[in-house]
Amino acid sequence: MKVTVVGAGAVGATCADNIARREICDELVLLDIKEGVAEGKAMDLMQTAQLEGFDTRITGSTNDYSKTAGSTVAVITSGIPRKPGMTREELIGINAGIVKTVTENLLKHSPEVIIVVISNPMDTMTYLALKSSGIPKNRIIGMGGILDSARFRFYLSQALHCSPNDLQATVVGGHGDTTMIPLTRLATYCGTPVSQHLDEARLKKVAADTMVGGATLTGLLGTSAWYAPGSAGATLVEAIIRDEKKLMPCCVYHEGEYGLSDICIGVPVIIGRNGWEKIVDFQLDETEKAALVKSADAVNSMNSVLSTLSI
Ligand code: LAC
Repeated sequence: MKVTVVGAGAVGATCADNIARREICDELVLLDIKEGVAEGKAMDLMQTAQLEGFDTRITGSTNDYSKTAGSTVAVITSGIPRKPGMTREELIGINAGIVKTVTENLLKHSPEVIIVVISNPMDTMTYLALKSSGIPKNRIIGMGGILDSARFRFYLSQALHCSPNDLQATVVGGHGDTTMIPLTRLATYCGTPVSQHLDEARLKKVAADTMVGGATLTGLLGTSAWYAPGSAGATLVEAIIRDEKKLMPCCVYHEGEYGLSDICIGVPVIIGRNGWEKIVDFQLDETEKAALVKSADAVNSMNSVLSTLSI
């Protein structure tokens, strides 16, 4: 089993590190356009193999996609990250061309590959990868909801003084500071509604912190986060390769589900060996439905920018 990670920046390298340690494939290719960077990071990671006790073979490649041939899953992390004060949406002009080219190159050598999109603005990049490639919709998955839900659990765990592992919490909608929708009503602590443990003001603060979770880190770090995004990417790859049938909020193409069409946006889906296999209906209430429609409007207007770009 072979996996490719395109983009050997902080997110790509962290994703590769997590995939290697989890031993979910025997071959892992890290690819970047910057001469030597992917080779260097692959070698550095391989030198942790004995220390960490994994046997995944990691190789690096400077833009030679023939090395990625026969990949089962490919993760796209390429593009520029955001700087403090920037939104994910502001990256579209540069990242759209990159994501389109990367998708084409991957498919040339791995026509059956399942593509995981991490590059921002993620919902629009997922839509672009699907529309420009024309491959079956189940093989293109945007990762954002897994990351946003992990952040939601983090903020809930801080408020509850509990382990994030005792929480179930899902974020749907777009992967943007104003478009994501933490589903507070459905979040549980060991099976009990979180509203039994936290008052409304605390829950509102948790949701607000979750929505700007990425921006908060960008402010602290001077660039986008990488540990949680890389780990979320690896979690998605693992669910595909191991055919886990896990329910994860991911950005996928809609054909009427949740009342949405011709858009890639985050909803709960079953992930398995065929990519995303089914959208699950969480029976949103009227407020949540309205928030999803508003989020979809914002994602649609970002998607409409694609036609103005010369890519
Ligand atoms: C974040 C970027 C990766 O949310 O979208 O940290």
